[in-house]
Amino acid sequence: MTAVLLTNIGELTTNVGTPDDPCGTLHDAAVLVEGGRIGWVGPASRAAGHAGASRVDVGGRAVIPGFVDSHTHLVFGGDRADEFAARMAGQPYAAGGIRTTVTATRAASDDALRRRLAGFVAECRAQGTTTLEIKTGYGLTVHDEARLARLAAEVTPEVTYLGAHVVPAEYADRRAEYVELVCGDMLRAVAPHARWIDVFCETGAFTPDEARRVLEAGVRHGLVPRVHGNQLTPGEGVRLAVALGAASVDHCTYLTDDDVAALAASDTVATLLPGVEFCTRHPYPDARRLIDAGVRVALASDCNPGTSFTSSMPFVIALAVREMGMTVPEAVWAATAGGAAALRRDDIGRLAPGARADLVVLDAPSRTHLAYRPGVPLVHAVYAGGVSSG
Ligand code: NIG
Ligand code: FE
Repeated sequence: MTAVLLTNIGELTTNVGTPDDPCGTLHDAAVLVEGGRIGWVGPASRAAGHAGASRVDVGGRAVIPGFVDSHTHLVFGGDRADEFAARMAGQPYAAGGIRTTVTATRAASDDALRRRLAGFVAECRAQGTTTLEIKTGYGLTVHDEARLARLAAEVTPEVTYLGAHVVPAEYADRRAEYVELVCGDMLRAVAPHARWIDVFCETGAFTPDEARRVLEAGVRHGLVPRVHGNQLTPGEGVRLAVALGAASVDHCTYLTDDDVAALAASDTVATLLPGVEFCTRHPYPDARRLIDAGVRVALASDCNPGTSFTSSMPFVIALAVREMGMTVPEAVWAATAGGAAALRRDDIGRLAPGARADLVVLDAPSRTHLAYRPGVPLVHAVYAGGVSSG
């Protein structure tokens, strides 16, 4: 593969930063892409040494690391547009809606799910996402959870087992048996295809005791915990995540001061998902409070048919800046380096020698335009592993 020098970059976000500039911003910069990795980063005026590389003049545009969307649920059948419309007419959101998607997903063939997933992956890529985490959780039988994990593993190494999404209808009166299944046969069937284990710890889903059992069983099978917590009500999700050393706790909409302090003292990333609050008309999480307390924050789409049917990380950034008290650099960092931290990856989310050449050329002179021009497609080109599209 020939080396490519991207030059005439008006504003480069490297995420190799300082406390004053966590985005590690360079102006009038150049980036060398070599063998799928970043070979060199520096001022365009010092790029002369890379004369052998083919040159791409990006015309003063801004370049950022590819988005790391560390929380999605992209393998599912059907949609819930009617439920969304009813909610906009005043119905509240409840976790039980998940069962509607479970029914549609079980009825869908592998090929139908695979085609749908490929469409979502292309949609994400066109909007600048170069790494995706994908959860199971709409199968909820041994067979269906294993096939969702297998299908997800065809498109990403970041697969999460979420058998504990909700208790399926057929186990409504036997929830202890369902938890047993999630920790036993289902886990054994899914674990070979997954890296992470997740649980929806919430009123209407799983109790803290059930959640702990599920996560500990996953750990015994080599999976690393993540938690859906504190989405609809205050609760034990954050404390459980921190106690188990989870990579992230996601949602974090209802937090006590103790939750915030526990997160700040931990390695657990708080992943905020403002597409959910947009789609459910719930209050947005308070990112400012978390960041000021020293918590590491990630932003992700939570793309799913119930609470956030958007795959757009630029939209998520715009919401985080407008509604959650984040500055633009904080939001861009959280959607790139923050996502990488939530997936415990140091090869993505930053543009430095040795990192994967995952980057986005924006059709804008600065990253600020991501929030300043909401809803406008601003992706000029995407490089994933050094291969460009757009
Ligand atoms: O992340 N919180 C749990 N799971 C999804 C909702 C899924 C659904 O309603 O289908 C979420 O918001
Ligand atoms: Fe989710």
